[in-house]
Amino acid sequence: MNRSLITGTGSHVPSVILKNQDLEKIVDTNNEWIIARTGIKERRIVDGETTNDIAVKAAKNALKSAGTSPKDIDLIIAGTVTPDMLFPSTACFVQSHIGANRGIAAFDVSAACSGFLYALDVADKYIRAGISKKALVIGVDVFSKIVDWKDRNTCVLFGDGAGAVLLSAEKGKRGILSTHIHADGHYGKMLYAPLSINSSPFHKKSPEHSYMKMQGNELFKIAVRTMGEACQEALEYTGLKAEDISLLIPHQANMRIIKATAERLGLPEEKVYINLDKYGNTSAGSIPLALDEAVKKGTVKSGDIILFVAFGGGLTWASAIVRW
Ligand code: ACO
Repeated sequence: MNRSLITGTGSHVPSVILKNQDLEKIVDTNNEWIIARTGIKERRIVDGETTNDIAVKAAKNALKSAGTSPKDIDLIIAGTVTPDMLFPSTACFVQSHIGANRGIAAFDVSAACSGFLYALDVADKYIRAGISKKALVIGVDVFSKIVDWKDRNTCVLFGDGAGAVLLSAEKGKRGILSTHIHADGHYGKMLYAPLSINSSPFHKKSPEHSYMKMQGNELFKIAVRTMGEACQEALEYTGLKAEDISLLIPHQANMRIIKATAERLGLPEEKVYINLDKYGNTSAGSIPLALDEAVKKGTVKSGDIILFVAFGGGLTWASAIVRW
């Protein structure tokens, strides 16, 4: 059976840097609180660019690093909850702007911060089933357009960014060894962003504004528990032990959640990839952005075992293990 090998990675972040000190001028917060409670020092914010724009840039970078022509792709999946339009999808926009063939499959998946791993799970299954040979998987979000910039509980946490990987169907021992995705919609109201459009003359209720809303404290506890369980499930499925993990690339939401997850696994600090300080929580962009950075730095070497784990709105959670 074919495996999905990650043959290229790419990312893109906007050039505008918003430091904690800049946020002190917008809401009642301070640099020390943000660093101590989250680990974030700065984040990137779009200034004119859109979700589609940054997704295209990340996708092009992934194709370039793989040395693959867009004409060879047969599947594009984008994980995002901040698309520019209800339709066409982000994936369709990417298809038309990178020069991919007409007629291939292209669609988005909605799983908030777990969006990239959800998309990876689907693409991996297409490849294993023999339906796809080369799949482009993107994680992208622009939370700056749905965050309430008057709410200090949320606006300090998020940033904008995109990452992408190219999967190629290959035989052999390298590639994706496992993916697992989960959801519990009963916790949906803990983290959500309502859709404020309703132009129907028959709709009596005025729509809620579409700012995202979050019960941070409760989520924190669930995130620590589910990320730990997701890692354990991935290890059990692959028959690997925590000490076999070369690098943990967790969703970059909060340093304390990441540390708690690593501690549960007994992983030392140097085996945990962190770039949250520079980008904040970029939702679906977070894991592929971190992976691309790790690859470019040479942190990831052939044969390494990488564990990815994410948690987000839905609630959703997911994991993947890759032999690089
Ligand atoms: N600056 C200063 N003070 C603040 C700020 C701020 N930016 N935000 C909150 N505070 C205050 C609160 O008002 C509170 O004050 P009070 O005690 O006077 O009421 C105090 O700080 C403590 O607030 P908590 O909410 O208890 O702070 P906590 O330590 O829980 O940290 C945080 C909050 C960072 C949001 C944390 O709970 C967290 O990271 N939660 C998980 C977020 C997450 O993982 N989300 C899921 C992924 S996102 C996605 O899927 C899209």
